[in-house]
Amino acid sequence: MCGIVGVTGVKGASGVVYKRLSLLEYRGYDSAGIASLDNGKISFCKRRGRVFSLAGDLKNLHGDTAIGHTRWATHGKPSDENAHPHTAGKFSVVHNGIIENYSALKEKFFSGVKFFSETDTEIVARLLNYFYDGDILNTLKKTLPLLQGSYALVVICADFDGIIVARHKNPVIVGYGKNCAYTASDLSALAGLCTEISVLEDGDTAFLTKHGIEFYNSEFERTERSKRENPAQSAELELNGCPHYMLKEIREVPSSIIKTADAYICTRDKIKRYLTGADRIIITGCGTAYNSGLIGKRYIESFARIPVEVETAGEFRYKQPIVTKNTVVIAISQSGETADTVEAARLVKSLGAKVIAVTNSPYSELTRIADAAVPVEAGQEICVAATKSYTGQLSALYLLALTLADKDEKEGAEALKVAADIIARTIEHTDIGTLAEACARSSGVYFIGRDLDFAVATEGSLKLKEISYVPSEGYPAGELKHGTLALIDIKTVSVCIICDGELAKKSENAVEQIISRKGKVAVITNVPETVNRLKGKAEIIEIEDCGKFLSPLLSAVIVQLLAYKTALLLDRDPDKPRNLAKSVTVE
Ligand code: G6P
Repeated sequence: MCGIVGVTGVKGASGVVYKRLSLLEYRGYDSAGIASLDNGKISFCKRRGRVFSLAGDLKNLHGDTAIGHTRWATHGKPSDENAHPHTAGKFSVVHNGIIENYSALKEKFFSGVKFFSETDTEIVARLLNYFYDGDILNTLKKTLPLLQGSYALVVICADFDGIIVARHKNPVIVGYGKNCAYTASDLSALAGLCTEISVLEDGDTAFLTKHGIEFYNSEFERTERSKRENPAQSAELELNGCPHYMLKEIREVPSSIIKTADAYICTRDKIKRYLTGADRIIITGCGTAYNSGLIGKRYIESFARIPVEVETAGEFRYKQPIVTKNTVVIAISQSGETADTVEAARLVKSLGAKVIAVTNSPYSELTRIADAAVPVEAGQEICVAATKSYTGQLSALYLLALTLADKDEKEGAEALKVAADIIARTIEHTDIGTLAEACARSSGVYFIGRDLDFAVATEGSLKLKEISYVPSEGYPAGELKHGTLALIDIKTVSVCIICDGELAKKSENAVEQIISRKGKVAVITNVPETVNRLKGKAEIIEIEDCGKFLSPLLSAVIVQLLAYKTALLLDRDPDKPRNLAKSVTVE
């Protein structure tokens, strides 16, 4: 959440920052701003709205150094004043994170002073300016220890021909160019700009100039940080003729499954080392990652017969988790930066549990904390709603469960590849238009299923509400009669997933109960008998059979497509749903 970019030593720096900020809008898009530095003069523009609203201001932002920000509001509503950068005297600051004690600092150092904004960030610019004695490092030494909360700060100072970066908990990277340097909150912002990057560690500060990058550790002593290859590819950021990233990324589901399966086979031995002796497993994550954990639990319990609990990371942290050295915590996160998940992982590790990360981000904080990482090879995911990362996570969890059960992962990887082929065919041929129209007109959509199908129903409901804003819930089919049935009427749509032949008849009962209450029902199924029994009573979306355990990958794609089409019919932007951000790096 909140995207940051900075460049120094680059002609037309503000233009470069503007372009790169647009690529980061998935981190937040309620306001944006850029500050530039030209011969000791700071200029800035900032506005409520999307990055493109800054286009007309670029002509006023001169110089070879610029920093920019795209915001997801936490403190202070989206407005021109609250947009970053925040400027005080010789300093201009953009920030990702939360300064939790900003009110106390304001009271202590600036009592009676009227601030320009309602944000928690302005205090940083004010403090830097307040302590500034001509020595920036000294100023940072006085300012940073006062800040409580979390931050990735990117700063320009009128007296320094470059950029200052500081990190406490929130991620920030720096990149090396020829006679120039870069910084960003995400690797993708630097794709195609630089091939080598370094990741700042907690407490680090860095000084970027056209001559290179100097690092200081949390004690403000000079240090080195290793250079790594920037894996982000600029080609991945192209829409390639697709109208939206969401559709493009759904189409990339098959390749994300295949690449994740291949990568798993290569890392399997390391992962196995940390799984040996596990007598209890806890899976944690947020949003879609949590939902994939629901399926991971079923895989592990079915294949390995080890008990698994699944907890949303934000809750889990505060439950005084009970773990032993034989507990393995699987932390799932596309970004590897979600604050709740990262902090949950940190906590259980400190309590002695082993932590396995399942993540799409090899350089993330979660990967750093974990004992081992299971790679999800989904590639860059730009749409806020997760699609290909979800199916990548399911693939990784499926193989991990096989490892825990001492079963043949290579066979599992082959099965995943067969499923990937089926999914590729399905994406091309499934027509979900009529159901999407019904959902768009409905007062609410209920996704139901049993067992694995219920887990997919939960994700289907999340997808639909995230991007179409149609009220929606996911329910176990058997629970319907214990409450949700009261909501069913002619204006509601129920989507029932039936991809387990053994449970089909039970779920069909729920369908009949809805039909009796005049609710519209659509059934996503691979069970021929269900098709025969419900034909004419419900809309049937018949899909191929990928086998009991891999059918969630296929039915998930159907509900993703349904959410996408419904969002379009309601004229929503599926890539940038209101009020949401892709990586939520604050608690
Ligand atoms: C946000 C996003 C969701 C995502 C969740 C967890 O809420 O909007 O799409 O599932 O964060 O993100 P993570 O990167 O940890 O998987």
